[in-house]
Amino acid sequence: MNKTLLKMVTLVFILTMCLLVLVFGSPATETTLARNVAVAHRFLDSKDLPTGEKAKMTLGKDSTSEHGEVAFNHDTHSFKKYSPDGKTDIGCAECHHTDQPKSALTPPLVTSERAVVLTVEALKKSDAAVVKGCRTCHFQEGNIPDGKEMPVTVFKNAKGKEETKESSNEVAYHNNCNSCHDAAAKLRPELKKKAGFATTNDCLICHKKN
Ligand code: HEC
Ligand code: HEC
Ligand code: HEC
Ligand code: HEC
Repeated sequence: MNKTLLKMVTLVFILTMCLLVLVFGSPATETTLARNVAVAHRFLDSKDLPTGEKAKMTLGKDSTSEHGEVAFNHDTHSFKKYSPDGKTDIGCAECHHTDQPKSALTPPLVTSERAVVLTVEALKKSDAAVVKGCRTCHFQEGNIPDGKEMPVTVFKNAKGKEETKESSNEVAYHNNCNSCHDAAAKLRPELKKKAGFATTNDCLICHKKN
C-alpha cells in the first residue's frame, strides 16, 4: 500500500469513528453501564444457596455515589444465630420478604410471591421458584429499567397517618441491615467492637469508598 492511500484510509477511519460517537453518544459509557449491570446481577435470581466462598458476598459493585462496595456474609447471617439477641437464626424470609405467604406478612409488607415460607428445605424441592435478589425489585435511584417501577411502601407515621415512600436499593438495604444491627447493638453493646459490624451512621464501616 502506498503512503497516500494509507493516509486516506486512516482519515476515513477517524472521521467514521467521530461520526459514530456523535450519532450514538459515548460508547465507553454504555460499555461501563453494561458491565456494571452484569456485576450487579451476579447473585440475582438463583436457587443455589450461597455456601463456602460464595457466601462471602460483595454487594453493590456499581454504586452511583462515593459509597461503594459492602461486604455481607450470607452463611453467618443465615446459620450462626444472628438475631438481635444472638439466640436464634434469622428466618430466610426476614430478608427475602416476598418469599412467604400473604398470611405471614406483617406491615408495611404486603407483597407475597411464594406460597410457603422460604427455608433451605423448601428451596430443595424441584418445583421451588428461584430466590430473587433484592436488586431485581429495589432499583438504584435514577437507574430504573424500562417498563419497571420502584417499589412503593405505605408506612404509618407517628400520628397514624399513611405515608407513601419509594424503596430504592439504598432505602431497602439500609432499613433491612441497619434496623437489625441497631437493635443488636442496643441489646449487646459489645458488638460495636466487632470488626465489620456497623450501626446506621457507621457509613464507612460498611462501605468502601469508590
Ligand atoms: C450495615 C451496612 C451499611 C451501613 C451502616 C450504611 N450502608 Fe449504605 N448501603 C448498604 C448496602 C448493603 C447498600 C446497597 C448495595 C447494593 O445495592 O447492592 C447501600 C447503598 C447505599 C447507597 C446507594 C449506592 C448506589 O448507588 O447503589 C448510598 C448512597 C449509601 N448506601 C450511603 C450510605 C451512607 C451515607 C451511610 C451512613 C449514613 C450508609 N450508606 C450506611 C449498607 C450500608
Ligand atoms: C440477613 C439477610 C438474609 C438472610 C437471613 C438470608 N438471605 Fe439470602 N440473600 C441475602 C442477600 C442480601 C442476597 C444477595 C441478593 C442480591 O445480590 O441482591 C441473598 C441471596 C440469596 C440467594 C441467591 C444466591 C446466588 O448465589 O445467586 C439465595 C438462593 C438465597 N439468598 C437464599 C436464602 C435462604 C434459603 C435463606 C435462609 C436459609 C436466606 N437466603 C437467608 C440476604 C439474606
Ligand atoms: C419481588 C420483588 C422484591 C424483592 C425480590 C425484594 N423486595 Fe423488598 N420490597 C418489595 C416491595 C414491593 C416492597 C413494598 C412493600 C410490599 O409491597 O410488600 C418492599 C419493601 C421492602 C422493605 C420495607 C420498606 C422499606 O423501604 O424499608 C425492606 C426493608 C425491603 N423491601 C428489603 C428488601 C431486601 C433486603 C431484599 C433482598 C433480600 C428485598 N427487599 C427483596 C419488593 C421486593
Ligand atoms: C436480622 C438481623 C440482621 C440483619 C437483617 C443483618 N445483619 Fe449483619 N449482623 C447481625 C448480627 C447480630 C451481627 C453480629 C453477630 C455476632 O458477631 O454475634 C452482624 C454482623 C455483620 C457484619 C460483621 C461480619 C459478620 O459477618 O459477622 C457485617 C459485615 C454485616 N453484619 C453486614 C450486614 C449487611 C450488609 C446486612 C444487610 C444486607 C446485614 N448485615 C443484615 C444481624 C443482622
